[in-house]
Amino acid sequence: MEKFAVDINGFYGEFGGAYIPEILYDNVETLKNSYLKVINDPSFQKEYNDLLRDYVGRPSPLYLANRLSEKYGCKIYLKREDLNHTGSHKINNAIGQILLARRMGKTRIIAETGAGQHGVATATVCALMNMQCIVYMGKTDVERQKLNVQKMEMLGATVVPVTSGNMTLKDATNEAIRDWCCNPSDTYYVIGSTVGPHPYPDMVARLQSVISDEIRRQLKEKEGRETPDYVMACVGGGSNAAGTIFHFIDEPGVKIVLAEAAGKGIDTGESAATIHLGKLGIIHGSKTLIMQSEDGQIEEPYSISAGLDYPGIGPMHACMAKAGRSRVLAVTDDEAMQAAFELTKLEGIIPAIESAHALGALDKMSFKADDVVVLCLSGRGDKDMETYINYAP
Ligand SMILES: Cc1ncc(COP(=O)(O)O)c(C=O)c1O
Repeated sequence: MEKFAVDINGFYGEFGGAYIPEILYDNVETLKNSYLKVINDPSFQKEYNDLLRDYVGRPSPLYLANRLSEKYGCKIYLKREDLNHTGSHKINNAIGQILLARRMGKTRIIAETGAGQHGVATATVCALMNMQCIVYMGKTDVERQKLNVQKMEMLGATVVPVTSGNMTLKDATNEAIRDWCCNPSDTYYVIGSTVGPHPYPDMVARLQSVISDEIRRQLKEKEGRETPDYVMACVGGGSNAAGTIFHFIDEPGVKIVLAEAAGKGIDTGESAATIHLGKLGIIHGSKTLIMQSEDGQIEEPYSISAGLDYPGIGPMHACMAKAGRSRVLAVTDDEAMQAAFELTKLEGIIPAIESAHALGALDKMSFKADDVVVLCLSGRGDKDMETYINYAP
């Protein structure tokens, strides 16, 4: 990762940085100065990799989806993050950050969650490591991702429903930051995506980079080469996408295609298509593209998918999209839902609605018969069953 690596001040080109209240300065500074040392330490790496193998079930399979491949006229491999313990890629990051928090002497863990997958992953690791866990979640998401709320509570976490704004991920993040400001000494904030102040975007990308590390090895075994023609992923804040592309960014032969949530359509005023619609601003400690009004007020995002319903975007993705290194497609609710039903019918896999946005992008592309495509299936659809059952196009 040379060209799009974060710089010493936490910037990816003009995006990123650490815009934080004074009270959090010491916390963020300590984290910034220690995260690379800790995560590169051989004893940390051993503990982290042992848990990824024995607790999460990694490596996740790289599955050649034959019937899906036939439909789109190329060779499509699915990176099965849906098969991880707790059902998505979020556990890779939660384990890494909570191991780090423990080494920093923190005893209280807080997190924000949208779809509930990051909340469940965090609550799971807190149970495993006997740490107190508080998860902030917008009330809208508490209702549409009920199963995950029940799981977090069973795991011993306190779930705090947030009633400000449109009661989704942005609002949950605001509350988590507020909590952190009130409890800076004993509390570690586990951010669930490549967002927030530096060093979070880089740290989360590194903790998710196991995804592309495995893809390289698995492709070598299956195709005789380590690099595909395309890598594809959905992008909310950008963590599964960052992990999927991490070890391919400096390979010009690998095309990067990301799918963001167009909601009811990017021109309808009801979407979360931040890269298409966003303008430069600061949100949750980071300078990035944000959906905002003419006078700089954040516009409430909308997506059927709780995990993509965010008005900002990780600074790394803003930078890569602006530079033309990634191509970002906007996929509507309906397109994602159709793609989810299609995968279920063709391959017997019910995806998370977030991941279904990446699948929905397939229809907007044209492939050659010998193209090798790796698409990150970031999560499973259990949490979304009610939405699938009640869906009427
Ligand atoms: C299954 C799944 N995929 C994707 C996302 C989006 O997050 P990110 O862009 O950080 O991968 C979420 C968020 O909750 C999720 O649960």
